[in-house]
Amino acid sequence: MQTITISESPKHVNETVKIGVWLTDKRSSGKIAFLQLRDGTGFFQGILLKNQVTPEVWDMAKHELHQETSFWVTGEIHEDSRSKFGYEIQVQSIELVGESDDYPIGNKEHGVEFLMDHRHLWLRSSKPNAMLKIRSQVKLATMEFFAKHGFTQLDAPILTGSSPEGTTDLFHTKYFDDDAYLSQSGQLYAEAGAMALGKVYTMGPTFRAEKSKTRRHLTEFWMIEPEMAWMHQPESLELQEQYIAYLVQSLIDNCARELETVGRSVESLRPFTELPYPRITYKKAIEMLQEGGFDSKFGDDFGSPEETYLADQFQKPVFILNYPKEIKAFYMKPDPEDDRQVVCADLLAPEGYGEIIGGSERATDYDYLVQKFAENHLDMADYGWYADLRKYGTVPHSGFGMGLERFIAWITLSDHIREGSPFPRMLNRLRP
Ligand code: 4AD
Ligand code: MG
Repeated sequence: MQTITISESPKHVNETVKIGVWLTDKRSSGKIAFLQLRDGTGFFQGILLKNQVTPEVWDMAKHELHQETSFWVTGEIHEDSRSKFGYEIQVQSIELVGESDDYPIGNKEHGVEFLMDHRHLWLRSSKPNAMLKIRSQVKLATMEFFAKHGFTQLDAPILTGSSPEGTTDLFHTKYFDDDAYLSQSGQLYAEAGAMALGKVYTMGPTFRAEKSKTRRHLTEFWMIEPEMAWMHQPESLELQEQYIAYLVQSLIDNCARELETVGRSVESLRPFTELPYPRITYKKAIEMLQEGGFDSKFGDDFGSPEETYLADQFQKPVFILNYPKEIKAFYMKPDPEDDRQVVCADLLAPEGYGEIIGGSERATDYDYLVQKFAENHLDMADYGWYADLRKYGTVPHSGFGMGLERFIAWITLSDHIREGSPFPRMLNRLRP
């Protein structure tokens, strides 16, 4: 007899098979029991008829199977048009593997803190389960997209001696007799990689000791950071929108059931596959905000209300171009048309999710960078290597960073960015 997974059952209709499962729920009357089963690949139902199994199996199903008990189930796969999945198993026998009593997560409503305290178990429930599958698909689609576009994947270090995104929100650790910081961004290393390999991208965890307790901030999050030598900002923007559209299409094609489980309709995603996305300048954004009743002025950074308002005007992701220098990182290229600003863009997601991508063309001039280090109190001992990239064959180059959990939060219409991370790290959460 063949051992299969729930997801393989469509290929085994009317065959007797064996599947390793956990019980999620059960209902029984005098003669029939309905077992709700899951195995990680899917959720479906087992039907147990009292007069078709041994009394031992019937008793076991009644008395020993509780929520999250694990067992081998043997039976025949049938089509079942009434269930969402379309198939079920007619149970013949059960072999108990691991008991489970008093499983803490029931069918009743639990508070989110309770669920997060039990995240190691909560991952088994249908919605977190769907979120993890969506996350996995986004990473797979990322690898496909950049491979198709001629990129090489580059791994940036996690332990670093530098802080590309500002010195205030760093996680510090001792490094033997030296000091180290958990990486805020792989970008500086990606730039070195781009000078060696042309087009590279990093994909890995990044860390920000941000004390902000918002729906959009994690202290540990994953970033995908492409960096392209010989590329100016307009071409980078085209790549960014193609990347986002590719991810959305890939989820439509591969995760329809998971999207439905989290409450996002495929139809509502389709417009985001249509390009181009609108582009407006920061200056224009300030005007729009003023017209909308905000007291914004040149030089202000945007918080979540401003970002939400701006994105609401378009119903699509929108690029905001060329922010003031003062509110952006030291490595961005000054705008030749207005020295007060830099050649950069943030991509704002619609539906209230805010910035999902930050990117820019990079400063290419050695002396300019050295002056920026001085202004930002950055030590040449830590950053000299980065300035070297401008000393030995500097070229125009651009790049961007997409926050994986921000993207997932938007796509899945999550209340909080933590839903898209298996074990989220936040101001008040380091366990489990
Ligand atoms: O805008 P950021 O800070 O840009 C960078 O780090 C650049 N080095 C990227 C680059 O050009 N290579 O961060 C990029 C993205 C944001 O748009 C957001 O999606 C995400 O990273 N992000 C966060 N996600 C979750 N929690 C946080 N605390 C985040 N901070 C940034
Ligand atoms: Mg940013």
